[in-house]
Amino acid sequence: MTHAQTFRAYRAGDEIELARLEALVEPTPWTAGDFLDVPKNGWSCEVMVDDEGLIQAWAVVMPVLDEAELLTIGVRPDVQGKGYGRAMLNHILTRMQNENRTRCHLEVRESNVRAIRLYESSDFVRVGLRKNYYRTVRRSRTCGTNDP
Ligand SMILES: CC(C)(COP(=O)(O)OP(=O)(O)OC[C@H]1O[C@@H](n2cnc3c(N)ncnc32)[C@H](O)[C@@H]1OP(=O)(O)O)[C@@H](O)C(=O)NCCC(=O)NCCS
Repeated sequence: MTHAQTFRAYRAGDEIELARLEALVEPTPWTAGDFLDVPKNGWSCEVMVDDEGLIQAWAVVMPVLDEAELLTIGVRPDVQGKGYGRAMLNHILTRMQNENRTRCHLEVRESNVRAIRLYESSDFVRVGLRKNYYRTVRRSRTCGTNDP
């Protein structure tokens, strides 16, 4: 990474920029309304900002009992491939471990090679294939203290 990066929780008002960025990187982007619903649903949204406060990366996590589901993760297009996605993923996995969550699930399109490489190199394993669900691969990773 070339600049100082800071993680912080979603703040009201971020939803406009987050929706703008999602639309740039996701075929089925989250809307501003979706981000506004995150705290109402008991989910958490973390963002990575640069030294000027601009959002560089984001992730939304849904806790489910002692597990969690990564609902979306993204990096602004002009800084992809610089390690920000890995840093964001590591950040939320560390948070999950600190909350004693035993497993993290996520879904990813089979065609999303970059994301799959990121997840596989972070020890996610494929646990299933959902056909006709925008052709996604479902992967999970144990993220508790008993990690192999
Ligand atoms: C997927 C995404 C979050 C990854 O973030 P990123 O900052 O671009 O990726 P990083 O620089 O952290 O690289 C992480 C790993 O991804 C893989 N990767 C990165 N660039 C890649 C490329 N051009 N081709 C293939 N794999 C690539 C590598 O395994 C890399 O690890 P390495 O550099 O140690 O080998 C980001 O590209 C993104 O926002 N994509 C669009 C939205 C999306 O697909 N979200 C995930 C939905 S499930």
